[in-house]
Amino acid sequence: MRKNIVAGNWKMNNDLAQTETLISELKSQAKTSDAEVMIAPTFTNLWHAFQSLRQEDIEVVAQNMHFAENGAYTGEVSASMLKSIGIKTVILGHSERRAYFNETDELLAKKVDAALANDMRVIFCFGEELADRKAGNEEAVVESQIKNALFHLGVDAFKNIVLAYEPVWAIGTGETASPEQAQDMHAFIRKTLNNKYGNQVSDDMTILYGGSVKPVNAKEIFGKPDVDGGLIGGASLKAEDFFAIVNAF
Ligand code: 13P
Repeated sequence: MRKNIVAGNWKMNNDLAQTETLISELKSQAKTSDAEVMIAPTFTNLWHAFQSLRQEDIEVVAQNMHFAENGAYTGEVSASMLKSIGIKTVILGHSERRAYFNETDELLAKKVDAALANDMRVIFCFGEELADRKAGNEEAVVESQIKNALFHLGVDAFKNIVLAYEPVWAIGTGETASPEQAQDMHAFIRKTLNNKYGNQVSDDMTILYGGSVKPVNAKEIFGKPDVDGGLIGGASLKAEDFFAIVNAF
C-alpha cells in the first residue's frame, strides 16, 4: 500500500524567529488524517526545526543538496551533512532549481545517486511548462524528465523515491491543474513506471501533486485515485491552511 504524504516546501521564506513561530503554530494543529507530514525549511533553519519537531509527527526535510560528499564547492551542502543533523529526506529537481540554477536532468541524476547512497529518501520534482502543455507535449516532457534522472536506478533503489508532479504553470500562480488534469498525468506517470519497473513499483509509488494547492481545492485533488498527496508552497506558510490541506485526506 502506498503512503499519502503532504509536504510543505517553505522555499526561501522564514528567518529563525519566523521559523520558531510557525513551528509552534504547527504543533498546535490537530491532525485527523493518516498522511505523512513534512516541512522543508531553508538550510539555516533545518537544525532548529529538526530539534523542535523531534517528538512530533512532522518530518523535517531539505530543499536541495549537492552531489559531492565534500570538497571545494563553496556555498553547497552535502547529503552526509544533512544526515549528520538528522535529515533523512531531500527534495530534488524543483522547477525553481531547474529554471534559476540551471539544474539539468544529468545533474539531478547525480544528486539522486548521492542521496540514495546516503540512505536518504528523495522527493523528485518534475513538470512541464505552459508552452509544453499548449503544444500537447506535457506527457513527453514529463516522461523524459523522469527517465533521464531516474531510470538508471534499480527496483530496490526506486523504493526510496517519491515523485512530485508540479506543472510549472501552476506554481505560485493561483492557477491549479484541474483535478482531472492532475489525475490524467499521475495515471500516465504510473503507467510509465509500470512499463519500466512492473506492477509492484508503480502501485507502491507515492505521486504528489504540487501547484497552488489550497484548503479550498485540496480535497478534490486528493480525491483522485492516482494523487497520493501534495507538495505545498504558499499555503504551507500558514499553519492553519497547511493542516487544512493535511486533513483533506
Ligand atoms: P505553490 O503551492 O505556492 O504554488 O508552490 C508549489 C510548489 O512549488 C511546491 O514545491
